[in-house]
Amino acid sequence: MKYKKRILCIGAGYVGGPSMAMIAYKCPDYRITVVDVNHDRIDAWNSAKLPVYEPGLDKIVKKTRGKNLFFAKDIENQIKENDIIFVSVNTPTKTYGAGADKAADLQYWEKTARQILKYSRSSKIVIEKSTLPVKTALAMEKILSSARGRIKFEVLSNPEFMAEGTAVGDLENPDRVLIGAHETKNGLNARAQLIEIYSRWIPLKKIITSNIWSSELSKLVANAFLAQRVSSINSISALCEKTDADISEVSRAVGMDSRIGSKFLNAGIGFGGSCFKKDILNLVYLCNYYGLPEVAAYWESVVKINEYQQERFIANILKSMFNTLAGKKICVLGFAFKADTGDTRESPAINIAGKLLMEHAEVIISDPKALQNAADDLAGIEGSVKYIEDPYQAAAGCHALVILTDWDLYRRLDFKRIYRSMVKPAFLFDGRNIIDHAKCFTIGFNVYPIGKPALSHL
Ligand code: NAD
Ligand code: UGA
Repeated sequence: MKYKKRILCIGAGYVGGPSMAMIAYKCPDYRITVVDVNHDRIDAWNSAKLPVYEPGLDKIVKKTRGKNLFFAKDIENQIKENDIIFVSVNTPTKTYGAGADKAADLQYWEKTARQILKYSRSSKIVIEKSTLPVKTALAMEKILSSARGRIKFEVLSNPEFMAEGTAVGDLENPDRVLIGAHETKNGLNARAQLIEIYSRWIPLKKIITSNIWSSELSKLVANAFLAQRVSSINSISALCEKTDADISEVSRAVGMDSRIGSKFLNAGIGFGGSCFKKDILNLVYLCNYYGLPEVAAYWESVVKINEYQQERFIANILKSMFNTLAGKKICVLGFAFKADTGDTRESPAINIAGKLLMEHAEVIISDPKALQNAADDLAGIEGSVKYIEDPYQAAAGCHALVILTDWDLYRRLDFKRIYRSMVKPAFLFDGRNIIDHAKCFTIGFNVYPIGKPALSHL
């Protein structure tokens, strides 16, 4: 079959896999190939059990895989054969050398640029889909133009705004698609080609354009603003606990102001996930780099409040359970960083479970999708940990329940049945404010929500 466009994506992770599956699904006349250095990941994308759990993704992959969507290992040939290359490799926080613990580690991104340069035999459009520090495209262009041959590369920025757990809906119906390009003839031509792809299913008014630097920076700023809302409401939850105000009532009252909006105002144990913390730290690094320490300090405080919120939660468990957890069984409900994903990267549960183990509690972890990742995250940490998927079995014989992920199934649990199976007095710490606290209190639990008065029989 002759395809209208041949598109490659380098990096078959949480972004590369779903975003390319969506393009393949919406553009049956385009051929999309996704490659990765991690061959196990490619095998998993080609198997019945995809490497990421994402509601609705199986269906789309089933419809496209082997038809116009391919997962492949031969990076060299694929670079040669494709004209448009998305790059969605990982850009974690640097852990060594200059900028350690803040700057983005660009080694994977740079290796990819060098591979593209080495194997290309024709001109290509290279699209930054990974989240990158502002001005990265400049470095990319310098590498790609270093050969000075006939072959030309046009770099575009097209950051991804999807969230895990809702990736399919976000990709199918995004709030906006952002494309950053140079205002040159080649830049505008490359941009038009990318617009042509997205306009197959996204209204033109939602496809916005800017210069490359604005596009790169907008991605970091969007994540910083979202995380800042979570930290803002979490900071107020601490004040609610001191004043008998109720954070859900405050959040509703504040969020109904249309200038503020109601989303991202759920107080909890703090944000997790692979991106918020790393992207804010990257922003902090950039601000310091450009001589703006006050701006850097402002954004760094968002991360500090996030850490403070987790520490407050752990301290409250310890204090409420008579200042000792040694030998007590604690059932952790939920390990994923949010509902509807198996991803545990930067999940607050890692820190919280680790601290419970440091207090010599016996920890039983339950999660419908993240148990394998939880076991990997806690491997090597000393203490007694068990992994039990069924929440009823996990809770039986425990002194406390600690809800760490907002899985819908926890809202519907039979708490009477759970209470009967637990050691008394039974404690319930709702780190996500998702269950009916008054009902659980009536059943007999001592209930500790976030940002609301505790309901205690003691
Ligand atoms: P990921 O770790 O799941 O996937 C990245 C993949 O790139 C890995 O499988 C890795 O093996 C591969 N890779 C690294 N170097 C390579 C190379 N030289 N050649 C081929 N493959 C290579 O990461 P992710 O969550 O998909 O995130 C990717 C980027 O997208 C990051 O910059 C992230 O900030 C951004 N982002 C992520 C999300 C999200 O929801 N996870 C959303 C928006 C943006
Ligand atoms: C986030 C952004 O929402 C995406 O737009 C972005 O593309 C992505 O990061 C990225 O760049 O990786 P994601 O991390 O998948 O997506 O999930 P979110 O829904 O943003 O949740 C992040 C964290 O904040 C979760 O731990 C969640 O539980 C927490 N959160 C969110 C709250 O504690 N309260 C809220 O009200 C909302």
